[in-house]
Amino acid sequence: MARITASVFSSHVPAIGAALDLGKTHEDYWQPVFKGYEFVKQWEKAQRPDVVFLVYNDHATAFSLDFIPTFAIGTAAEFTPADEGWGPRPVPQVYGHPELAAHIAQSVIQQDFDLTIVNKMDVDHGLTVPLSLMFGQPEAWPCKIIPFAVNVVQYPVPSGQRCLNLGKAIRKAIESFDEDLNVQIWGTGGMSHQLQGPRAGLINKVFDNAFLDRLIADPEGQAAVPHIDYVREAGSEGIELVMWLIARGAMADLAGGKPPKPLHRFYHVPASNTAVGHLVLEEQK
Ligand code: DHB
Ligand code: FE
Repeated sequence: MARITASVFSSHVPAIGAALDLGKTHEDYWQPVFKGYEFVKQWEKAQRPDVVFLVYNDHATAFSLDFIPTFAIGTAAEFTPADEGWGPRPVPQVYGHPELAAHIAQSVIQQDFDLTIVNKMDVDHGLTVPLSLMFGQPEAWPCKIIPFAVNVVQYPVPSGQRCLNLGKAIRKAIESFDEDLNVQIWGTGGMSHQLQGPRAGLINKVFDNAFLDRLIADPEGQAAVPHIDYVREAGSEGIELVMWLIARGAMADLAGGKPPKPLHRFYHVPASNTAVGHLVLEEQK
């Protein structure tokens, strides 16, 4: 059967992608950021996941304001990188896993979550920056990737509780797939940042670190935090953090098993307008 082996969490700051693509990683400004991802790059080489279920948000690239799915699963065989701002990144094509994605859609929808099935979409920095941070700059991504887009851009956004519960349903779905696959689930976006208005530039280190503490040790407690608290404390784009609860919800301890082991934790300010957070949690048998 397919099994979840780890959850990985990271911010998706687009300027990180630009720094990589334009060869600026050695600059003093970027050095501490990339240093925080050295562990995970080595670790991923040893882990060799077959599939990454990648929870991220689209930034009006695939979904305009014409239609806004709350949760959208990419069931296509491939997805093309695209982007706003700096333009499409020169990164490898993203190859999906249509059979597993269709199985997850079937299972999760039957567990009463409404997913939008997306057979064709492009993927922006929300998805490609975490891939670059975890896998570096390879010719081809080392595994299949199932994009799972969450609306955290246009209100209303899903609650933390719904995200955590959805993660639990995704775990059941993955574990009932009849193929021996090593699957990781990634939660991306965040941490505190606000890109517009009088509070633009807002960063909240205390909130971010408390979020990381509770994500590890008290995910049910963190799931009860209402979205307005994220926006007030972590800025309008800090709401991206609810996506981390989907990945956390898929860990064994929330299904009666052992708590995951934190392998690596990293926090850094600044990167562009964003606080960068990163965490690796390994499943324990
Ligand atoms: C920035 C951060 C984001 O999450 C984003 O989607 C766009 C820009 C920034 O830090 O500039
Ligand atoms: Fe963003």
